[in-house]
Amino acid sequence: MTLRAVIAGTGGYLPARVLSNDGLAEAYGLDTSDAWIVERTGIRQRHMVADGETVSDMAAEAARKALAQAGSEVAEVDAVILATATPDAVFPSTATRVQAKLGITRGYSFDISAACTGFIYALGVADAMVRAGQARGVLVIGAEAFTRLLDWTDRTTCVLFGDGAGAVFLRASDVAGQRGILSTHLHSDGRHGDILQVEQGLFRMAGREVFRHAVSKLASAVDEALAANALKQEDVHWLVPHQANLRIIEAMGRKLGLPPERVVVTVDRHANTSAASIPLALAEATRDGRIGEGDLVLMEAIGGGLTWGAALARF
Ligand code: UT7
Repeated sequence: MTLRAVIAGTGGYLPARVLSNDGLAEAYGLDTSDAWIVERTGIRQRHMVADGETVSDMAAEAARKALAQAGSEVAEVDAVILATATPDAVFPSTATRVQAKLGITRGYSFDISAACTGFIYALGVADAMVRAGQARGVLVIGAEAFTRLLDWTDRTTCVLFGDGAGAVFLRASDVAGQRGILSTHLHSDGRHGDILQVEQGLFRMAGREVFRHAVSKLASAVDEALAANALKQEDVHWLVPHQANLRIIEAMGRKLGLPPERVVVTVDRHANTSAASIPLALAEATRDGRIGEGDLVLMEAIGGGLTWGAALARF
C-alpha cells in the first residue's frame, strides 16, 4: 500500500494593516520611491502585524481555514508542523501554541527553521511522516512577522517584507492514484549563511548575492523535481513560487515555458512573507478557482541558510 499526502485544504491569513510603498516611505522616513520598489521587486504594498498580534494567532487563523476547506475537524489532526523564522518565543514552539489555540490535545507539534524555504521543508517532513505512517492528518503552516525583524533605517531590506500566514491540511490517502505530494527536494549550504541572516536581532541581506544564488539554485531544484517524477516542463499546470522578487518569479516561469497566467503571483500585494508566501499563494489560487483537482503544481523557494528546495504536488 502506498500512502500519499493529499493537500485537502488551504487557508491564509493577512493582518488588517496595509502599507503602500509610499505609506511605508513616509511612515519610516525612507529615501526610496514607489517607482524603485516596483521596478526592482514588483512589490506595491505589504500587510503588517498589529501590536500584540502574534505569529501563532495568524497561524491558527490560517489553519482553521485550511481545516474548514478540507471539511475536517481538529480531531483529524495528528501533527502540526510550523515553519517560521519569527517564532512567538524560543520555546514553547509556535506550533504547540497553535495546537492549543485550535483546541487540539493529542498528537505532536513542532517548528521548522529554514527561513524563506521553511514551507518546502515542512512539506517535505510532513510528507515523509505520512508515507511512514506516523501521521494521517497534518497541518503544515508557514507563518511570519518579518516586519518585527527589519531595520527601518536600511532601505535595501525594509521595503521587501510583509507579514502573514498560510496553511495546508494534508490527509493521508491509501487509494492508488495520482493525487498528493509527489516529491520534495531539500537543500542547504551553510557556507553562504552570512549573505542572509539575522544579526543582533536585525535582518541583513546581501541582495545581489542572494539574487545570483536564487536564479541558479531554483532552476536546478525544479529540474530535479521534474526528473524525479519523469515529468516534463509542459506537464506543469501551475508554478507557485516563493514570493521574494517578481524578477526571479518571472525568470522561473520563463525557464519552465509557462505563460505568466500560469504563475501564481502575490508579491505585489503581500511583499515577501518568507515561509508564509507559498501557502498564502496556494490559498489564494485554490480559493479563486485557478488551481483545481488534478492540477500539477510546482513549488520552489530559497532563503537564509542558504536553504532551497522544490516540491511537486498533484491537487
Ligand atoms: O526571500 C529570501 C530570498 N531573497 C531574495 O530572493 C532576494 C534577492 N534579491 C533581490 O530581490 C534584489 O537583489 C533586491 C530587490 C534586494 C535589490 O535589487 P537589485 O536590483 O539587486 O538592487 P541593488 O541591491 O543592486 O541596488 C541598486 C541600487 C543601489 O544604488 P547604487 O549603489 O547603484 O547607487 C542601492 O543603493 O539601488 C539602491 N537601492 C535603493 N534605492 C531606492 C537599494 N534599495 C533601495 C530602495 N530605494 N529601497
